[in-house]
Amino acid sequence: MATNPEIERRRTFAIVAHPDAGKTSLTEKFLLFGGQIQVAGAVKSNKIKKTATSDWMDIEKQRGISVTTSVMEFDYKDYKVNILDTPGHQDFAEDTYRTLTAVDSVIIVVDGAKGVETQTRKLMEVCRMRNTPVIIFVNKMDREAKDPFDLMDELEAELAIHVRPLTWPIESGPRFKGVYNLYEHNLNLFQPSKQVVTEKVEVDIHTAELDNRIGKDLADKLRGELELIEGVYPEFNVDEYLKGAVAPVFFGSALNNFGVEELLNTFVEIAPSPRPVKAEEREVMPDEPKFTGFIFKITANIDPNHRSCIAFCKVCSGKFSRGVPYYHVRHDKTLRFSSPTQFMAQRKTTVDEAWAGDIIGLPDNGTFKIGDTLTEGEHLHFRGLPSFSPEMFKYIENADPMKQKQLAKGIDQLMDEGVAQLFVNQFNGRKIIGTVGQLQFEVIQYRLEHEYNAKCRWEPVSLYKACWIESDDPQELEAFKKRKYQYMAKDREGRDVFLADSGYVLQMAQTDFKHIRFHFTSEF
Ligand code: G4P
Repeated sequence: MATNPEIERRRTFAIVAHPDAGKTSLTEKFLLFGGQIQVAGAVKSNKIKKTATSDWMDIEKQRGISVTTSVMEFDYKDYKVNILDTPGHQDFAEDTYRTLTAVDSVIIVVDGAKGVETQTRKLMEVCRMRNTPVIIFVNKMDREAKDPFDLMDELEAELAIHVRPLTWPIESGPRFKGVYNLYEHNLNLFQPSKQVVTEKVEVDIHTAELDNRIGKDLADKLRGELELIEGVYPEFNVDEYLKGAVAPVFFGSALNNFGVEELLNTFVEIAPSPRPVKAEEREVMPDEPKFTGFIFKITANIDPNHRSCIAFCKVCSGKFSRGVPYYHVRHDKTLRFSSPTQFMAQRKTTVDEAWAGDIIGLPDNGTFKIGDTLTEGEHLHFRGLPSFSPEMFKYIENADPMKQKQLAKGIDQLMDEGVAQLFVNQFNGRKIIGTVGQLQFEVIQYRLEHEYNAKCRWEPVSLYKACWIESDDPQELEAFKKRKYQYMAKDREGRDVFLADSGYVLQMAQTDFKHIRFHFTSEF
């Protein structure tokens, strides 16, 4: 725990969900509570809606939305809340994973009717890798939802984490009556409304008052269920939550602003303040007096008159001050930032100082690369910005011989931004771009043309996975590389990558070469 009250009061987190589960709606309600917006409907979804007719300017415009809403910060009670937004479209999942490296905790939104979906599972995997504390919000209880006990089992099994309900729903859909708060022991009755915060009723569940409120049958059912919960689930333990071992679960309806206040109140109380961050050299504590930070995201500016990008820096320790020279470790040079920005809902303002836990936007003209570290002079390299094995691959070819240089520069900078991954096949020297979704290929082509005046062409390459390989047995490693010479590539750091063209080939390789470790993320 940080001892500096400025740092201790910070809560930096992300709300993540499978598309359509209600992330945008929940974010918006949090902003309402934080006084950042006055009416619901003010926050636009950053979902990239891909329609048959969408041209790439559309995507750019939509991407623009996510630039301004990338970080939302507000004061709530005595806390300073920083919400990091993550792209809604799953083709930008890599961006989401990286954003998760800059947060201290996560709220996962699950649709009560759909339960755990693909993206939820993947996002949880990333949280588990980092032991990030997780709170689960089961949304859309105003619609017909799964049985809450079944949902608990599903969350536990699918997300591989213990769960502990802190509120409990009374029915769902048209019969939805509200939730019982197991923490505060009161009843929160549901009135559908997008703006009004519902009132709470203090009831002793053992009295007739409960029957009067929700009817005898439901009251009896609730009493039985609560007894079962207390019997099945151990008492909620904050330390277990902070270790990432147990996730408290809340039920509600983000759209109706129901169950959201309980969530936010519990969140600020139990969620961690900025946590220590691991660098290669040492662990950096948030309340160290000297500033350190790292770049976890770079976003291009969509305005053609201002080509510059914004690099998002997570302050890991100390205090960042405007105009003070800081050390850019990779470039080995000192930089001064005269207009760092912070983000308040839709607005962007220049800031004079920022504390550990905060996110600042630094104007960037190609100075930064994802993972870059800034310090007051110390040689530090923050870890934990893994690249995941891409799922789609294409050869990238130059479509305009006069623009070779522009193309190379464009590819280089887009890769620095983390738009996709580049591998160079060691056999034929061809460049392969790996992405997590089709959309990235289109974005790369569009941006190369519009920002770098270069043209590219895609050519198919049939690959299944790229995995980073290493071994303690150099002979076996050499033998492997020789055997698979057509499928060996280097990533941008010059590390060996095996490009498996099918799941079977990969499995065979793993069986035949027992001392080689095949990694599916770049950080191992
Ligand atoms: P996302 O960011 O996770 O993708 O989800 P978002 O909040 O945009 O919500 C997806 C859809 O689900 C939206 O409907 C939203 O209104 C609806 N929704 C969110 N929370 C609730 C809830 O608690 N109950 C119900 N019944 N619906 C909810 P849409 O039709 O796609 O968009 P819109 O036209 O309502 O904006």
